[in-house]
Amino acid sequence: MGRIICKSAREIELMQEAGRIVADTLHLLAQKVQPGVSTLELDRLAFEHMRRAGAYPSFKGYRGYPASLCASINSEVVHGIPAADRRLQDGDIVSIDLGARWKGYHADAALTVPVGTVLESTRRLLRVTEEALWAGIDQARFGGKLQDIGRAIQEHVERHGYSVVRQMVGHGVGRRLHEEPQIPNYVAPDQPNPALREGMTLAIEPMVNAGGPEVEILPDNWTVVTQDGSLSAHYEHTVAITKGGPLILTPWRSMFVDRLPRLVF
Ligand code: MF3
Ligand code: CO
Repeated sequence: MGRIICKSAREIELMQEAGRIVADTLHLLAQKVQPGVSTLELDRLAFEHMRRAGAYPSFKGYRGYPASLCASINSEVVHGIPAADRRLQDGDIVSIDLGARWKGYHADAALTVPVGTVLESTRRLLRVTEEALWAGIDQARFGGKLQDIGRAIQEHVERHGYSVVRQMVGHGVGRRLHEEPQIPNYVAPDQPNPALREGMTLAIEPMVNAGGPEVEILPDNWTVVTQDGSLSAHYEHTVAITKGGPLILTPWRSMFVDRLPRLVF
């Protein structure tokens, strides 16, 4: 494992500004989500909104990624590429993931949005996945260890009968979109388990399948889908570890869990 870069108070402030832009963009997109809208339209809105705010979309050009956000529908887990022919339908869920670079710093966040009216069982998957994110965030404290985060996420998810995706993990974030450490959403033997320290900035991002944990990558070389075709949800916040506890740098408002008032300030 490489070095984990701890940020100064000033750097965290800049990441908070980046995160504000990410959250505002996510709110704008969540409002636009409805049957008939294409994921390419969402991508255009995100690009224009971030550029107007003076930020640049972190994902565009990252390892050749062609768009400003990832939009992953139903059994797509993450990294769905926006397209004009991918139109949302009533009853779908869409996971929207985006990052903004602002004054040299990135913030990264995601949430899953129901399209029109979805099944109660689908809402439950979204709620449990978001709760798992918060359970992980609760462990992002000075004095704890990295594995505490994955353990809390995994326990919450599996207690509700869902499974945690293993192939992709959360990550440190800062001047680069992906920094050390990797943050698995589960615990495995021989996994690095560094102490959590003040100034670490972490993108915590559980990916949760309603069925089995296995995933595969589509021929576009990006889109990750569940192997069994089951639904998948994804929630992500960029969080700083501070003296006062976890500080949410990407404060998008939740449909399910009312935690921001306690944690943002
Ligand atoms: N938010 C995702 C991540 O943290 C997406 C980045 S991949 C990209 O890994 F290529 F789309 F940028
Ligand atoms: Co991320």
